[in-house]
Amino acid sequence: MPLGKKQLSDLKIGIIGAGHLGLTMVQVFFKSFLSPDNLLIAYKGNANTERIIADLGLTDSVVPVEELCTAADIVFIFIRPQSFIDFKITTIGADTLFVSGMAGVPLTSLEEVFGENVCRIMTSGPDTIRQNKAMAAIYPFNETVNRIITASGFEPTILNEEQEMHYFTVGFCLPAALVLAKKLGIDVEITPIDIKPAYAIIRHIYVWAKGVVPEFSSDKEADDYVHKMATPGGITEAILINLEKSKDLLQAVEAGVERSMAISDGFVS
Ligand SMILES: NC(=O)c1ccc[n+]([C@@H]2O[C@H](COP(=O)([O-])OP(=O)(O)OC[C@H]3O[C@@H](n4cnc5c(N)ncnc54)[C@H](OP(=O)(O)O)[C@@H]3O)[C@@H](O)[C@H]2O)c1
Repeated sequence: MPLGKKQLSDLKIGIIGAGHLGLTMVQVFFKSFLSPDNLLIAYKGNANTERIIADLGLTDSVVPVEELCTAADIVFIFIRPQSFIDFKITTIGADTLFVSGMAGVPLTSLEEVFGENVCRIMTSGPDTIRQNKAMAAIYPFNETVNRIITASGFEPTILNEEQEMHYFTVGFCLPAALVLAKKLGIDVEITPIDIKPAYAIIRHIYVWAKGVVPEFSSDKEADDYVHKMATPGGITEAILINLEKSKDLLQAVEAGVERSMAISDGFVS
């Protein structure tokens, strides 16, 4: 049966990457449409991840990546972009759809590994997903992915151009930047006039970001929140490093866009 005709609850969902985002997505999928019988999950082999998976009662869903890529109807990829550089797969299901949640990895690179049946999503961070205040960008449009994302409580945006993924990616780092800015005493008020027209998306997400930063009971809690959002070598980290130096949120945003583009360029060149 074509993917678009299946009930969400009948879909076999594969998740590659059982870190911050991967396991949060599993939990939100469970709440909205997925039964444990329809979950397949793969990770690299870290002992701590193994423990977390056991604590969540997901050990029976763990399968090798190859098996996951042939058995699932839809495979979500939540590994770090750096881990995707040498990621290889020899077999995939004839109709399996591959949905990358990796920041900066372009469609052309996904097609080289998974073939033509690929799509990208960019979600806001795990904390916003757990708060039910999450947003997600989808490119290109895929009806089933849109149904999953919407059913899982995200506010979806369908992008017209892949380039716009950079702006969403940077926008979704803003909650961490706002927390750091507050700690450093930086004025973060961004007025529309201050942002280039191309960054209208970021301006929209900035308003959302101000509403999702939680109240912290201690400085340590705030530091932990920022730390959890900053994947080493990633875009949030680039924004935070720049913000510490420049004390200017707009410059930090620019640094984030540059880092996102640099990650993409690293894949295509
Ligand atoms: N965290 C966020 O706020 C956020 C928001 C939006 C998008 N993203 C994107 O989501 C992706 C994951 O981020 P994260 O923060 O969840 O990273 P993370 O916590 O480091 O988790 C990465 C996971 O990928 C697994 N992995 C690495 N190489 C693998 C391989 N070859 N095969 C199977 N599994 C592999 C790791 O396994 P082990 O546990 O065994 O090491 C780990 O479970 C990144 O691409 C990031 O750009 C993250």
